[in-house]
Amino acid sequence: MQTNNHRIYLLYPQKSGIIAPEIYGHFAEHIGGVFYGGLWVGKNSQIPNIRGFHKEMVEKLRHIHAPVIRWPGGCFAEVYDWRDGIGENRPVRLNWWSRNDGRLEPNEVGTHEFMDLCEAVGAKAYFAANLTTMTPMHIRNWMDYCLSPRGSTTLALEREKNGHPEPFCIPYWGVGNENWSGGGNMTPAFYANEFRRYATIMAYNFPQAELIACGENGRDFEWTQTFMREVVNSERHMNGYSMHNYCTGADMDALGFDEAQWDRVIDSACGMEEVICRNWNIISGYGMQKHAALVVDEWGCWYREGSGPSEGRNLFEQQSTLRDAMVTALTLNIFNNHCDKVKMANVAQVCNNLHCLFHSDGERCVATPTYYVYDLYQEHQGARLVPTMIAENIEPAQLSVSASEKDGKTLLTIGNLSCIHDTQVTLEAVGRTLPAAAEAYLLAHENISAHNTFEQPETVVPVKRVLDLQRAITIPKAGILAVRF
Ligand code: AHR
Repeated sequence: MQTNNHRIYLLYPQKSGIIAPEIYGHFAEHIGGVFYGGLWVGKNSQIPNIRGFHKEMVEKLRHIHAPVIRWPGGCFAEVYDWRDGIGENRPVRLNWWSRNDGRLEPNEVGTHEFMDLCEAVGAKAYFAANLTTMTPMHIRNWMDYCLSPRGSTTLALEREKNGHPEPFCIPYWGVGNENWSGGGNMTPAFYANEFRRYATIMAYNFPQAELIACGENGRDFEWTQTFMREVVNSERHMNGYSMHNYCTGADMDALGFDEAQWDRVIDSACGMEEVICRNWNIISGYGMQKHAALVVDEWGCWYREGSGPSEGRNLFEQQSTLRDAMVTALTLNIFNNHCDKVKMANVAQVCNNLHCLFHSDGERCVATPTYYVYDLYQEHQGARLVPTMIAENIEPAQLSVSASEKDGKTLLTIGNLSCIHDTQVTLEAVGRTLPAAAEAYLLAHENISAHNTFEQPETVVPVKRVLDLQRAITIPKAGILAVRF
């Protein structure tokens, strides 16, 4: 087995920013098995629950300090009427995804229930407003219902009647979703006008709401160019610019893959860095950095469906292996290293779907390897980035690294991107003295498609190590290491 040697420098004296906790955010849509048959089990269920939500998932999300959850879609948001999700006698509607899986939307989870979930998890809420099929007035009314002070407007009184006298805390509002596709198939210039129309109304009465514009998909930089050109002189009611970026391999299987397909997905995930930088260059070119910090509000791997435990019953459900954990690790490292540009990111989606943290079936629930990456990385949230430099002479790069410091403690996270070669790493701290030893956790497995199942939930879980920092550290192939000192 070939082993390469790398030196990682931790550049403590270099000035750098704070990693926004929201970079560690999540996305939960009314799609397939995410809510119904997943997160939501119902308040009267025999399945242990917290206000109707699957207890184990809520507790695990709380454990990793999930900072924000985006809701209700995704494409589902394009046809969502918030009034369907409040009060008694909720209507059953066609879901955006009904055509794909025949499931109808019972509206059992609406604004109040979703906010219960956020409260139970300790997460902030990020609502995606429907500008495809709703008017600005309709969205304004949703904001009025959610945000107006107790006892003020008729809608605030209705909220009180429905059990929540105090306003909800919903800091983030998306102005549309994927408006270049399901969200109306708009051109960027047309969307820019729509954005102006909606944002003006949304911001006027609720200036405290942070509005996030629908940005580009993948590498559609033309969308960013045109949108910025159209809004730069007129629209400043913008606090974020969203991007969607999936590592798409619809021809690929989540479970059955070889080394070349491992590399293909890892290469595609590494492309996130370029997407961030190119969008940021365009945004900076228009001087819009203060208004259009990046919000990567959908990201993850997207394979051929059907590999998850429901065997195809849950739309887009896919199994999550060590490869997906590596994509998570390297993507979060990229976000950390670009924390001056990225203010939020939401992995798609929480459970029983694409790049998920959990699979569930009734009471049964299993955390995926991706969940454990969020666990290992959680102390990066709100920490100051410590810039790193890797001395390596291998092409393509074999390591993904980021580091941060909070309350005098450093967290260094490293992914060995190679699924063939182990690697050796030596640490050097510039401006600090490294301690002799450090606590570390390693997420790794001999089998690169290893994953957790209901029957064997601990196939891929972090293992504790104590490292001698004066010597080279071995990271096995496809291994993810989190070092704390
Ligand atoms: O995450 C699944 C879907 O992917 C979302 O609904 C949509 O926004 C995107 O195309």
